[in-house]
Amino acid sequence: MEWKEKEWAKQIAEKIRKKEQIVALRSDGKIPYTTVNGRFDDWTDRIGWWTNGFYAGQMWLLYYVYKEDLFRKTAKNIEEKLDKNLMEYMAMDHDNGFKWLLTSAANYKLTGNEMSKNRALLAAANLAGRYNPKGHFIRAWNDSGNGDTAGWAIIDCMMNLPLLYWASKQTNDKRFTQIAKFHADMVSREYIREDGSSYHIMTFDPESGEKIKPLGGQGIDENSSWTRGQAWALYGFALSYNYTKEKRYLETAEKVAVYIQQELLKWEFVPVDFAQKKDVLWEDSSAAAIMAFGFLELEQWTKSKERKTTFHKTAISLLRTLEEKRCNLTEETDFIIENCSVAYHEKEHNVSLIYADYYFTEAILRLSDGIMKGVD
Ligand code: GLY
Repeated sequence: MEWKEKEWAKQIAEKIRKKEQIVALRSDGKIPYTTVNGRFDDWTDRIGWWTNGFYAGQMWLLYYVYKEDLFRKTAKNIEEKLDKNLMEYMAMDHDNGFKWLLTSAANYKLTGNEMSKNRALLAAANLAGRYNPKGHFIRAWNDSGNGDTAGWAIIDCMMNLPLLYWASKQTNDKRFTQIAKFHADMVSREYIREDGSSYHIMTFDPESGEKIKPLGGQGIDENSSWTRGQAWALYGFALSYNYTKEKRYLETAEKVAVYIQQELLKWEFVPVDFAQKKDVLWEDSSAAAIMAFGFLELEQWTKSKERKTTFHKTAISLLRTLEEKRCNLTEETDFIIENCSVAYHEKEHNVSLIYADYYFTEAILRLSDGIMKGVD
């Protein structure tokens, strides 16, 4: 029988919906990050953690399509818990975008809740306050006993820039967008290598703004190609194009996309790092899910017909591999996607990670025509 993409996506979306009806009830009160014996853990006590918005974000994606109150309530509860983080300056960092776009900005878009809008604006103002005007970068983290990180910026932050674009639109204050564009231009210049791959961490002198050197971060080393970082670059530049329509961001996203496509030809599953040796196979399904959505996002904007087709095919191939081999849509487990890795040198390999579920859900809903496009 002929394989029909939209029907396939709709069927999976329906399975996700049914599964999440059960999972949301049994996970009531939790802010999940990963699972232990198939059940979500709870990061309520570590409220500043960068992934704390993803489960709520997934609930809003489902609420947008299915309008079930359980999804709305679950998302709203997590958003309210995050207020503790808003009140804790040192637990705020460049990941404000991940946390408040997927919770408060989504809530505001879907329900018009003014308190949610206020939360997301506070988070955006804090993010903008991390900007270093000499080096044109947004500082990643606060010091946490690991020395001075005032000059550190990371590729992941490309995904947080939409909070700034959103804030400009809400307030008619261009400064948020100006900061986002300075940062994106700096990343395009200093992170994206000739072959289209990206560094993870770049360090700058926080006083002069001069570039110092790259650091290894979550990949093998500073010169390797951490796959989730490549995915953040792809999706992040595609989003910056979406919000600004500046051609240079589209070109950067395409350069990263073509590089990723070439690397993917060598692998059945997305490895943690494209520079990884085949005999130490650690996968990262979260990178696969983020890349898939990145390709779908970019497909909309690329001008070349041929590229539209190949970007779409790559997205589908990533999603089908995940669905057939790395996905649990039964009610037995709280997670959907398995075999994720936190970082090459850390011990958490072959685990579930909440953001893999979020991006997989987002991609499936887009293919089934149910996606909430942006939060503005
Ligand atoms: N933002 C951290 C990560 O992707 O693991």
